[in-house]
Amino acid sequence: LAGAEPVYLAPDIDAVLHVPTHVPLDTIKEALAAYPGAKGLVLTNPTYYGHCADLTEIISEAHHYEIPVLVDEAHGAHFVLGEPFPVSALKMGADIVVQSAHKTLPAMTMGSYLHLNSSCRIDRDRVAEYLTRLQSSSPSYPIMASLDIARAYVEHIIEEQKLSDILQRIQSLKQTFDSLTNAEAVKPADPRIITDPLKLTIRSKRGHSGYTLQNILERVNIFTELADENQVLLVLPLGGKRIINAETIKSIDEAIEKTPPDQMFVSAEWGAQPVTVLPYQKKVLQTFKKEYVDFDEAAGRLNAEDIIPYPPGIPMIMAGERITKESV
Ligand SMILES: Cc1ncc(COP(=O)(O)O)c(C=O)c1O
Repeated sequence: LAGAEPVYLAPDIDAVLHVPTHVPLDTIKEALAAYPGAKGLVLTNPTYYGHCADLTEIISEAHHYEIPVLVDEAHGAHFVLGEPFPVSALKMGADIVVQSAHKTLPAMTMGSYLHLNSSCRIDRDRVAEYLTRLQSSSPSYPIMASLDIARAYVEHIIEEQKLSDILQRIQSLKQTFDSLTNAEAVKPADPRIITDPLKLTIRSKRGHSGYTLQNILERVNIFTELADENQVLLVLPLGGKRIINAETIKSIDEAIEKTPPDQMFVSAEWGAQPVTVLPYQKKVLQTFKKEYVDFDEAAGRLNAEDIIPYPPGIPMIMAGERITKESV
């Protein structure tokens, strides 16, 4: 919309989970040194998998160049509850943070918070003006009211000191999954990554893809948030109660044992350069013709559309990037 030319920063791919976790500080430093006139740094923290990095140094590095930092904290609206939840980017000094309240708090779908956290690098009036250009002039009052309810819900948890009960419930749910024989909870290999306690990643120990494990769990009415080649992700609730009894655990174990393994190792690591720009400016790209070609013939050509499997919504190749043999 703004006609901005993106500079893409490649994230680290975790050695155990095989998913992108965060953009390392060295990559940010390299990009800032190469593009000191950049208008903004946009980061996603946490990821859909609940993986969080310490952004403090990254943010102060960007601020050294007077570059505002915008953080997509879609999955972290509950971080305001404090420990043991990860630290919000708001506390780490990000200038603008957006949180999808509807993901982890009891807000209606679409309800999100846009936090402005800077008086010098962000012009509040300009943000407000651009919002009026992008948003409806008839906002939904039920959604806005639900955002206030979600805020009050968090306040209530803090005031009534209900956090320890919530954490205990989450812990006991996690322990139930720990009693599985044929599946296990997995965590990132990278010790710098903190995982949101509301997210639980589970993998079959008998060589099943996440998609197959997802099917097995659905047969006993456990609905996962997402599946990938290697595992499933569960989002645990702040409120409410879910009891998984020993019989259910037994039937999951039996179903895993009976199902033929189908996991194909697909590496998410394809040697992407840490800092890249598109070979052509958007204006030029728009003049190019698009055509369908077989996968076998795609390497070396320019990608015509963003490829962002959802969930988890982590881009694989963006429009205008050159396709490599490895990315195919
Ligand atoms: C990391 C991330 N950012 C942003 C969004 C979009 O948020 P919303 O649905 O509130 O527009 C999603 C959606 O699930 C997401 O996973």
